[in-house]
Amino acid sequence: MVQTIRIPISVEWKEDHIKLLNQQNLPHHTDYINLTTIEDVYDAIVTLKVRGAPAIGIAAAYGLAMSAQKYDFETLEQFKLKVNTEKSYLASSRPTAVNLFWALNRLEKSLENVRSINEAKTTLLHEAFQIQAEDEEMCRQIGENALTLLHPGDSVMTICNAGSIATAKYGTALAPFHLAREKGKQFHVYVCETRPVLQGARLTAWELQQSGVETTLITDNMAAHTMKTKGIKAVIVGADRIAANGDTANKIGTFGLALIAKALNIPFYVAAPSTSFDLTINTGDEITIEERSPMEVLQIVNTTIAPENTNVYNPAFDVTPNHLITAIITEKGILYPDYVEQIRENMCDKYIS
Ligand code: MRU
Repeated sequence: MVQTIRIPISVEWKEDHIKLLNQQNLPHHTDYINLTTIEDVYDAIVTLKVRGAPAIGIAAAYGLAMSAQKYDFETLEQFKLKVNTEKSYLASSRPTAVNLFWALNRLEKSLENVRSINEAKTTLLHEAFQIQAEDEEMCRQIGENALTLLHPGDSVMTICNAGSIATAKYGTALAPFHLAREKGKQFHVYVCETRPVLQGARLTAWELQQSGVETTLITDNMAAHTMKTKGIKAVIVGADRIAANGDTANKIGTFGLALIAKALNIPFYVAAPSTSFDLTINTGDEITIEERSPMEVLQIVNTTIAPENTNVYNPAFDVTPNHLITAIITEKGILYPDYVEQIRENMCDKYIS
């Protein structure tokens, strides 16, 4: 029997605006903000009010569709030109997660056969809805597939937040834990706090508590010791972009976890929808890694912790090479090495960025 549990949602379309869970203020404040302009959406993505690869794709899709509802042009050609300009604007918000570009490209592509401005407006909104609905279904399926690799009662480690609030619903890496709760089962999730902006401590610990998943928070430098001494059965993480050979960009710190897992012979799983694959690039070396403000490192939740003139390096993501990944769990099934072949076979019908 499926039990009703609380699984938070981050992005909702409300008639003429986007209702967004402001992830900047979690876990202390669960406040929702209304985004009414394309600038609001751009700002929300840059400042991490919405974050997580699929969720920024969904927010951007609604943002572009929302803005287009207000265009006042004479011709369809002018309308499409403006869509293209605004698409580029939103695409410049963050560089690493491919879902952002994929969603925006899909919206633009949906206009190929429309014959009027009215039809174009409806089509964009419909496409954004579809992207969100499909993402929820993909995440649910990823969770089901992940459950075939994990056993209830297991202790599992994760980093960042690849959860419900990073997607339409359920999440990718966190989907099996939410689904297990729906089935009346339980895991124990060790959550790396995820410096510099603490997505693990602020978001994952909060999100898993909402659905009643047992969690233990650790600081990032406790990962190796915890894996060795706490009987961690698997590490499961999300992805911002997966190259054609399986190299995976995800939150900074992921690569380190994969190395530790390899050294300790613990399976290391990436959970991601087909929309996170970028088949235009052969390896992870081609992925642009976002570098963010030094203030994120110099401060912890607005408190400065180092001399202000300290040199800082703040890459938001790293790339885990394919040979460290035990399996990639997708909605289409579980991919194992050789990833080049497996990805080519299973992802050939997907839209590419
Ligand atoms: O900087 P963020 O918080 O957007 O980074 C998010 C991640 O690295 C997630 O693991 C990834 O986007 C997958 S979300 C399902």
